[in-house]
Amino acid sequence: MPEKHHKQLKDKARSAKKRSYSPYSKFRVGAALLDSAGRIFTGANIENSSFSLTICAERVALFKALSEGSKKFKAIAITSDSESFIPPCGACRQVLFELAGNIEVLLVDKRGRTMHTKVGTLLPLPFTEKYLHT
Ligand code: THU
Repeated sequence: MPEKHHKQLKDKARSAKKRSYSPYSKFRVGAALLDSAGRIFTGANIENSSFSLTICAERVALFKALSEGSKKFKAIAITSDSESFIPPCGACRQVLFELAGNIEVLLVDKRGRTMHTKVGTLLPLPFTEKYLHT
């Protein structure tokens, strides 16, 4: 992926974070997902007083993209206010692997430093649809 896309994705993830609704955890997360047509879809975590109804930033971005007709993806950037790189949770890894594939993942810390990985690296031995038929 070209460097200019990296910067753009990181910036979009950062601004998406500002729209996080996270009064319970006070942990803001932003994500930006690049599709193969060059479109970028953003997401922020949206919490609920019934805690388990919370949805992560990554899935918001992905579901927005899919529901807008995007099908093929290149990369996702994920950021928070933490000094650490925040990796996607297990549920998001599973959903990303099935619906976005083994795309690039850019983990961005609060200072803008970036760690590069891939969904398949984060989710070795994924459960997939093929196991439903074995
Ligand atoms: N969260 C995300 O949005 N993405 C992640 O990758 C990790 C966790 C959210 C869920 C919840 O709103 C808050 O961060 C604390 O878990």
